[in-house]
Amino acid sequence: MIVGVPKETYPNERRVALIPAAIGSLTKAGLDVIIETSAGSDAGYPDAEYADKGASLVSRDEVFQRADIILQVRGFGANPENGRADLEQMKEGQIVIGMLDPLWRADCINELAARKVTAFAMELIPRITRAQAMDVLSSMANIAGYKSVLLAASYLPKMFPMMMTAAGSIAPAKVFVIGAGVAGLQAIATAKRLGAVIQAYDVRPAVKEQVESLGAKFVELELESAEGEGGYAKEMDEEFYRKQRAMMARVLSEVDVVITTAAIPGKKSPILITADMVKQMASGSVIIDLAAERGGNCELTKPDEKIEVEGVSIYGPTNLPSTVPFHASQMYAKNISTFTLNLFKEGQLNLNLEDEIIKDTLICKDGEIVNQRVRDTLQQQ
Ligand code: NAI
Repeated sequence: MIVGVPKETYPNERRVALIPAAIGSLTKAGLDVIIETSAGSDAGYPDAEYADKGASLVSRDEVFQRADIILQVRGFGANPENGRADLEQMKEGQIVIGMLDPLWRADCINELAARKVTAFAMELIPRITRAQAMDVLSSMANIAGYKSVLLAASYLPKMFPMMMTAAGSIAPAKVFVIGAGVAGLQAIATAKRLGAVIQAYDVRPAVKEQVESLGAKFVELELESAEGEGGYAKEMDEEFYRKQRAMMARVLSEVDVVITTAAIPGKKSPILITADMVKQMASGSVIIDLAAERGGNCELTKPDEKIEVEGVSIYGPTNLPSTVPFHASQMYAKNISTFTLNLFKEGQLNLNLEDEIIKDTLICKDGEIVNQRVRDTLQQQ
């Protein structure tokens, strides 16, 4: 069977779905790999390195014509405009694997289903031990958490570490991380390495220990737990968020940097910082809103724009992993190649729906949307 990798076409996307080092595992399993010319060049992987590892470099049209399995970072759904051209090239029975944003862009999944492709959405990988090496959301959130702190440090008119110098003492920057999932925990670890003093809050009390083990203080708010399934938070009512905002306002007024990562899978992100709360923050402080793609955790966030309100900088980058394309592609390639190999048994394609990983990620097949979560989302729309 042939595995094909087209170059990404989402605006400013620099990642690639497979890197040269990941090709060996696929060819060893008997798969042939074809790559669109220059697919990896923006991520730091030249064509020659793919060829060295046994892949054939071909045109984009050829990838879609010849491949039995297409691997993408952002497939149609996660690339709704430019991805449409690919949709038209897809063939009945072709397997498409990538981030497809199926719970947010369920409308696109309808169109994918109409092409009669067999599509797998990498975002739906269950958070179970066996699937850890395939978990793209965790890989990419790790990178986003790291990069969010670097951005905050460069926008802040202060330094992060404490310094005792002949010219006086410098106090360490105070950082507040809201949402201590994968991105939040990496943000804490990165801010710690830079010498900041960190506080963090999450609606899942289970993460308190992890926050503390990274050297941050867990902010205790008297709110009920919002622990949902699979280590994710569940959506709460507006009254809950109102209480949370009121309790967090004091912390916000005392910190230099706020990094927000509060996400509910498939839903709009809760507003945790209102315009009024921003006004209470010190001039010069910085908010990095990682939830910007889903509306943001700050009421004032504008996706991919850096704005300033009463001296407070607010930035909501939506695609930080693409700004670290070399390692983001390395991690993504490990995730997607492991996932692809899991679809095979003894050299044969085996779409075993008893396997939770395959069942949860398969979204459409033979013209039907087969994934219950996507079907439920479509019904609610
Ligand atoms: P996650 O689900 O592991 O973590 C989110 C955390 O927020 C969870 O621990 C959850 O309990 C917590 N949370 C939910 N509601 C909350 C509330 N009201 N108050 C406090 N905590 C709350 O998600 P992950 O993988 O860490 O991703 C975090 C965010 O980063 C997501 O919004 C994701 O879309 C975003 N992301 C952004 C990127 C970018 O470039 N901007 C790249 C990758 C991820």
